[in-house]
Amino acid sequence: MLRAGGLVVLPTETVYGLAADAANPQAVARVFAAKGRPAFNPLIAHISGAVMAAGLVEVGPLAVDLMARFWPGPLTLVLPVREGAPVAALARAGLRTLAVRAPAHELAQAVIAGLGRAVVAPSANASGALSPTRAEHVTLDVPVLDGGPCRWGVESTIVGIADGRATLLRPGVISAEALGVALVKHADNAAISAPGQMVSHYAPRQPVRLEATAPEGDEYWIGFGAVAGEENLSVEGDVVEAAARLFDALHRAQASGRARIAVAPVPEMGLGVAINDRLRRAAAPRPA
Ligand code: TXA
Ligand code: MG
Repeated sequence: MLRAGGLVVLPTETVYGLAADAANPQAVARVFAAKGRPAFNPLIAHISGAVMAAGLVEVGPLAVDLMARFWPGPLTLVLPVREGAPVAALARAGLRTLAVRAPAHELAQAVIAGLGRAVVAPSANASGALSPTRAEHVTLDVPVLDGGPCRWGVESTIVGIADGRATLLRPGVISAEALGVALVKHADNAAISAPGQMVSHYAPRQPVRLEATAPEGDEYWIGFGAVAGEENLSVEGDVVEAAARLFDALHRAQASGRARIAVAPVPEMGLGVAINDRLRRAAAPRPA
C-alpha cells in the first residue's frame, strides 16, 4: 500500500503513526489532508537507523553520539537536510532541516525495511486532537496495523542540532537529564523552529482543568497517586505508568459525555515533564 502511495496506520513504541512513503509527494500530501494538518507543520521521517539517516541529513559528532545511545528509540533529531535527499519537500514544510527517528518497534521497522526507504509518520490523529496509543483510538479512515497498546504512550523527545549545539524542541519519553548533553534553552517564541509546538494541541473535545485535587460539577476526574480521581493514571505515583495511560484516559474522558475534564497534579520529574507538556496544551485555550 505504501509503495502505491497509500496510507497505513502503524504502531510505534511511543504512539501510533499515520505512515506514507516519504519520497512520494502525493502520498505525503495525503497525510496532511487526512489529518487536516497545516502545511507549515513538518513531519518526522522514520528510518531504520543511522545508516539510512546519513543519506537524508548531515550528521555531526553530537548526532552520531545521540543516535548511538538512543536509537532505535524515542528520540527524534532535527538536522540539516542533505541536498537531493529522497524526502518530499512538503514533508519538511519547506524547511532546510529534516526530523529523523528510528523507532524501536518491530512492526514499524519491518515496514520501513519492506519499503526500503523513509516513512513519514505523524501521530495518527486529526491535527490538534488526542494522540492514539491503541489501535482502537484511531478514527482516521485508514487501515490500521494493530500492535497493541504502545509501550511509552507519549511522543518522542525532539532535539534540534545546529552548529554543534543541541536544543530541546519537544519534551518526550527521554528526559532532558537522560539525554546527557548540554541543551541550549529553546525560546518559547521560536515558533518556526518547532512549528508543531502549537499552544493548543493533544486536546480532547471538552475543556480541561489541571492541578485538580477534587472534581467540580460533572467533570470527568483523572487522578494520579494519592489524588484518587474516578480513574487513576498511577496509584503508585509512577510517571512511566502514568505516561503509558495518559492518552487512553483522555480518550475515555472524551467519550464519557461529561462537559469537562479535570486532571490531578503530576510531578514535573522524568516523564512527568512530557506528561505536563501534553496536559498544558490539552488545557490551553482553543483556536476560534
Ligand atoms: O513519537 C513520535 O515522534 C510520533 C511517532 C508516530 O513516531 N510522531 C509524532 O509526529 O509525534 P507528529 O507529527 O505528531 O509530531 C512531530 C513534531 C511536530 O511538532 C513537528 O512540528 C516537529 O515534530 N518537527 C518535524 N520536523 C521538524 C523540523 N524540521 N523542525 C522542527 N520541528 C519539526
Ligand atoms: Mg502529534
